[in-house]
Amino acid sequence: MKKVILAYSGGLDTSCCVAWLKQQDLDVITYTADLGGEQDFAHLKKNAKSCGVSKVYIQDLKAKFLTEFVFPALRAGAIYEGKYPLATALGRPLIAEGLVEVAHRERAEYIAHGSTGKGNDQVRLEVSVGALDKNLKTIAPLREWHLKTRAEEIEYANSQDIKVAVSKKSPYSVDMNLWGRSIECGVLEDPTLEPPEEIFQLTKNPLKCANKPTYIWIDFAQGIPIKLNGKSFSAVALVAKLNKLAGACGVGRIDLVENRLVGIKSREIYEAPAAVVLHLAHQELERLVLDKETTQFKRIVAEKYAQLVYNGLWHSPLKRALDKFVEKTQKKVSGQIRLKLYKGSCVCVGRKSPHSLYKKELATYEAGDQFDRSAAEGFIKIWGLPYK
Ligand code: ARG
Repeated sequence: MKKVILAYSGGLDTSCCVAWLKQQDLDVITYTADLGGEQDFAHLKKNAKSCGVSKVYIQDLKAKFLTEFVFPALRAGAIYEGKYPLATALGRPLIAEGLVEVAHRERAEYIAHGSTGKGNDQVRLEVSVGALDKNLKTIAPLREWHLKTRAEEIEYANSQDIKVAVSKKSPYSVDMNLWGRSIECGVLEDPTLEPPEEIFQLTKNPLKCANKPTYIWIDFAQGIPIKLNGKSFSAVALVAKLNKLAGACGVGRIDLVENRLVGIKSREIYEAPAAVVLHLAHQELERLVLDKETTQFKRIVAEKYAQLVYNGLWHSPLKRALDKFVEKTQKKVSGQIRLKLYKGSCVCVGRKSPHSLYKKELATYEAGDQFDRSAAEGFIKIWGLPYK
């Protein structure tokens, strides 16, 4: 029997995928990556087993996700269309790597996933899988089968003797990992409406947050966050802690009408407390230590990097080349940023670095000024010459 590795979430959709793939005479092995989405893995395993899959893989990739995917994107300043820190998008190429690795280990011919036919994730997964091994074939049951509604799926699952403990269905589609939570569907599909409070899980309603600000400081070493309030943490612990801390201050809510890769606009709500704080802090530190040309050019790179990640091109030559550029710019991005979190806002209120290019003796308007004002006259004469 030919084998297929299915990216499995444990829910109804992917459980129906198991049944459907088995009907195509395939031996189904499930693969699940733990990126910090707080799933119930015991429950997931039970569901998978009850669907009759032959093997269940669950991998803890939280640390790898942060150090090899999230932090490179953070150093690049990658935020899609100025707002989305790319939590879901950054997870897909890693999941693709996991799928391919297991496919090789199991000598499987196929990879399958439960993405719908109109999202970005199908593209990201399949492009990455193809880039890693062009001989693997992908199957996307949701693009092929006739099941249209959830009721039809449940009926199909029952007819196939699949006993998935179906949780009470929320109207929302949610994806979550350590870098953030993405929420869509239901009332959110009407962009004129404010999102209801019930959709939020990582962030407290700013109106209900403490009446006094919370001050924190973050230490970076070469563009990577290493300390929170003076204490060293592992990547996973630092991001998890920051999600709690900033989330409790209502920081990290994002409401975005975005341009999908597949041509449509969609409205998505994100919660990304740690990502919002870390991007802001990292950017403020760069303002202090990078020279003017690099600071300004890097914004262009950030925009492109975000587009590449969003568009499923993590495993591409341009993305790898941009990584090298970014790495080079981060040599001196070390130092400390102080932030003030208050009722949903996050602002930088202090910065410090041994590589700071800010020179008080040149900037000051007070005593001790060393700026050569006499040189200004000649400079302006030449600079303005073309406009005369
Ligand atoms: N729009 C986001 C992206 O393309 C998130 C997609 C997944 N969202 C979800 N609610 N399941 O990366």
